[in-house]
Amino acid sequence: MASVTRAVFGELPSGGGTVEKFQLQSDLLRVDIISWGCTITALEVKDRQGRASDVVLGFAELEGYLQKQPYFGAVIGRVANRIAKGTFKVDGKEYHLAINKEPNSLHGGVRGFDKVLWTPRVLSNGVQFSRVSPDGEEGYPGELKVWVTYTLDGGELVVNYRAQASQATPVNLTNHSYFNLAGQGSPNIYGHEVTIEADTYLPVDETLIPIGEVAPVQGTAFDLRKPVELGKHLQDFQLNGFDHNFCLKGSKEKHFCARVHHAASGRVLEVYTTQPGVQFYTGNFLDGTLKGKNGAVYPKHSGFCLETQNWPDAVNQPHFPPVLLRPGEEYDHTTWFKFSVA
Ligand code: BGC
Repeated sequence: MASVTRAVFGELPSGGGTVEKFQLQSDLLRVDIISWGCTITALEVKDRQGRASDVVLGFAELEGYLQKQPYFGAVIGRVANRIAKGTFKVDGKEYHLAINKEPNSLHGGVRGFDKVLWTPRVLSNGVQFSRVSPDGEEGYPGELKVWVTYTLDGGELVVNYRAQASQATPVNLTNHSYFNLAGQGSPNIYGHEVTIEADTYLPVDETLIPIGEVAPVQGTAFDLRKPVELGKHLQDFQLNGFDHNFCLKGSKEKHFCARVHHAASGRVLEVYTTQPGVQFYTGNFLDGTLKGKNGAVYPKHSGFCLETQNWPDAVNQPHFPPVLLRPGEEYDHTTWFKFSVA
């Protein structure tokens, strides 16, 4: 059982509307989600001793989310991650998106799904947000109707994404929460043990676009099939961090994606999804300049993201899983974030 409460979170400038906050609570979890960008602003999870901490990075007030910031907790769309040079073709017609992360398009463009107000609907165990992305929004073809539904079931937060298109368009929706199972504001994520269920990953060029190869993880730093302690692992392999798509085993059905264990607190996050990939991002671009909740600052490697998704730049790479949604079809993906202690 979960309860849902609703409150005003803040007012958008220049009469842009009211942002509401929905609090979902079960006996194991408490999640706050706002109607701006369908953003998860807080997620309280108990540790082994039963002490609750907020395990996601973010801001106490709306102003924090309106400033330039790295997508804390938000839903990303119309297409998550990068599209090379912001250019693609659908049925022979070329489309050009804004280049918002030189020389590519990142996370839906200048004003992606994270930077818009969604229409909420309270459910018995969660909240559903919807919006219509107009034809041509951020340069994408056709109108897209989108529904993002968060529900709580005990220790599990379930996120379902649905969409319908009026014209063929790429669609790739995810959530961009940054987790730190030690509690948000903890200086790093090095004590976390990470497992990702992937035999292959996508090597990238210097602009973080996949080079096209689907490379085996075997014998590389990307072999996370058995748990690795992140700090030690990054050091052993002299890595700056991860910012890569891991190609998941499993079909369109629900499959295991990743497990993260923070031994000191006992907190465990397991992720299941219907998606073919996950972007494992270790907060490499965080630089400690943002002022977060409870006076937290967020230095490099102080949070990690597990962005379940289609593979980056799939619209330009025909051997990647199909990313086009056509009229009459339904986009329907679900990701499960399951919290426990061990
Ligand atoms: C990307 C990073 C990017 C970050 C946004 C991640 O999904 O893979 O390259 O910097 O989002 O801050």
